[in-house]
Amino acid sequence: MDNLKAELLRGLWYVATVGSDIAPGKMITKKLMGELVLIGRDAKGRVFALRDICPHRGIPLSYGRFDGETVQCCYHGWRFDTSGTCTEIPSTHEYQTIDLSKITCGAYPCMERQGLIWIYFAENGEAPAEGRQPEPPMLPGFAENDGPKLAIIQPFDCSVDHAALGLMDPTHAAFVHTSWWFKKNGAKLRAKVKEFAPSELGWAMVRHKIPPQNIAYRYLLGDNVTTEISYRLPGLRIEHIEGDKHQVLGLTTITPIDEDHTEVRQIFWASMGWIAPLKPLFRHLMNVFLGQDRRVVIQQREGLVYNPKLMLINDADTQGRWWMQLKREWTASGKAGRPFENPVKAKTLRWMS
Ligand code: FES
Ligand SMILES: [Fe+2]
Repeated sequence: MDNLKAELLRGLWYVATVGSDIAPGKMITKKLMGELVLIGRDAKGRVFALRDICPHRGIPLSYGRFDGETVQCCYHGWRFDTSGTCTEIPSTHEYQTIDLSKITCGAYPCMERQGLIWIYFAENGEAPAEGRQPEPPMLPGFAENDGPKLAIIQPFDCSVDHAALGLMDPTHAAFVHTSWWFKKNGAKLRAKVKEFAPSELGWAMVRHKIPPQNIAYRYLLGDNVTTEISYRLPGLRIEHIEGDKHQVLGLTTITPIDEDHTEVRQIFWASMGWIAPLKPLFRHLMNVFLGQDRRVVIQQREGLVYNPKLMLINDADTQGRWWMQLKREWTASGKAGRPFENPVKAKTLRWMS
């Protein structure tokens, strides 16, 4: 692990944004995976993603206009359809012939699922590979068309590795997430014993009952509340909590802006219809909580610039080790052209938190 920069994994689908961020006929631009990406939604509602660089002279296409079908560059008016193919060069004289179909700005596979816009960053400019990650994951408990109830985003001034290690780290809460409504500073640490098992492209804290003292969950979701938390490449934390009456899904996405900047989203789905009036409160609490994680990586960076040697200890950092092992195996299997083999073995982890 490099202290400031992370290796960015390719051949995987990343959460680029939330679907409700882009209305039909609109486009946005973002830097993702160190590349400029234009993300749009055509007049029929379909999402697409293009390389946001005009192949003529390199200006970002997003400075131009989008009419719901084609993006027109602001410099000389070349037009590109949503697959990235050039459809018009206004300066072409009737005596000239240019094969427009050979001119492209480049496009990314892009898909909307469960209210999220996913973009595939290929390994070698190729389409999603069979047997690697052919399509974005389906998150548990909710249907293809179920959008999230709530989503927040915060930029993290650190690499994806430190963002991921921070978010999967079970022992910082008592020190970082201290609030009057959550953990009080100086609260006594309790012994935790949790079962873990390999799961698709990652691992899961095996589904278990929420202790009966968590009355809020019982009130919201009904009896027999259970939870499963899983982590998977390229940077997703999925928490599915389910009771007899209702279920809630929390997703944390860690998407690289580039090798040393990351954007982190916290997104929630819920089967209850009545949470709308509580959204401002939930949004505030989520921002406070995620902001605490963000503040700590900004402070951490002050030390990391001196390139210190770092430690991962058992069992508190075992998940951090798995994360690094999964990344290495993804890259190695891709290079060797062999199937990905999950390096995580089922294990009981114990820590105080
Ligand atoms: S730079 Fe885009 S059309 Fe010329
Ligand atoms: Fe945290």
